[in-house]
Amino acid sequence: MPPVRLLAISGSLRAASLNSALLRAVVALAPSNVCVELYTGLGNLPLFNPDLEITDSPAVADFYARVLKADGVIIASPEYAHGVTGVMKNALDWMVGCEAFVNKPVALLNASPRATLAQASLKETLTVMSAQVVETASITLPIIGSNLDESGIAAHPSISKSIRAMLRNFHMEIVNLQNQQNHTLYGIKNCDTVKKARIWLDQNGISYRFHDFRTDGLTPELLQHFVDHSDWTKLLNRSSTSWRQLSAEQQSDLTQEKAMQLMLTIPTLIKRPVLDIGNKLIIGYTAKDGGYAASLPGAGAAKTENKHTELL
Ligand SMILES: Cc1cc2nc3c(=O)[nH]c(=O)nc-3n(C[C@H](O)[C@H](O)[C@H](O)COP(=O)(O)O)c2cc1C
Repeated sequence: MPPVRLLAISGSLRAASLNSALLRAVVALAPSNVCVELYTGLGNLPLFNPDLEITDSPAVADFYARVLKADGVIIASPEYAHGVTGVMKNALDWMVGCEAFVNKPVALLNASPRATLAQASLKETLTVMSAQVVETASITLPIIGSNLDESGIAAHPSISKSIRAMLRNFHMEIVNLQNQQNHTLYGIKNCDTVKKARIWLDQNGISYRFHDFRTDGLTPELLQHFVDHSDWTKLLNRSSTSWRQLSAEQQSDLTQEKAMQLMLTIPTLIKRPVLDIGNKLIIGYTAKDGGYAASLPGAGAAKTENKHTELL
């Protein structure tokens, strides 16, 4: 698995910024499965003007591209007069009209236990921009007044421990969110087993796309994908009504090719549901043994709101 790429943004332009020092310490403490890039262009962004496009400014276009390609964003920003710093808010305002922060996991670091108002405001802004603020990776650290520089922060026993834990949590949540965003459930809307599987996924906060064979179809490519990632003998449901309705000749001398042809013609021959979780397929569903719990270890771990609201 490639390392998770994080973009770290300090909301302070000050050369001796504690927030910037904190983020440099985060870079130094990142494990090998996390790659943190420090964004240094905040001061080059023009003042936000809704009349302008992102592409009108190379600095804004560059910021947009960096946020877009990052798997997650870490923000450490000071509080100025009980609010978010102007440069930080300005940068976010540029991103409001585009999709850069939509579903983007964000960790909010606070270098000052006193600065609760800016932190709350930042969270509100990011939430309304549809970013995923990850609570388990959003921490307050007693940097202000500590006289620690970046190496002091990285060497401090309890602070460095908290930063390492934050990075572990953020990595885990990002991987969980990526896995969930990749899920597709294939089946037929009115099938009882499919309904039960969907209820389980909804109750456990797992987002997924639902593909109904009846309305969305079954292409040879999709069936080939199923067969490539599973076993056609498991995919073909020989307990189904559709199977029983086949002639003895259709049921006999089964090969993968013949079974695929049958399933392509009669998709209700496919055991339902098929859950595609990106790296594997889970065929069928049973409520026994905790539903999908054993196959989806991240189930229920992400603090994301379940976006799948369609009523069954
Ligand atoms: C103009 C200004 C306003 C500030 N207002 C607040 C404030 O409302 N609440 C607070 O806790 N700290 C406030 N501070 C203190 C800063 O948060 C503190 O200096 C912090 O270290 C700045 O971050 P930096 O070191 O990353 O530049 C303010 C500082 C400045 C310069």
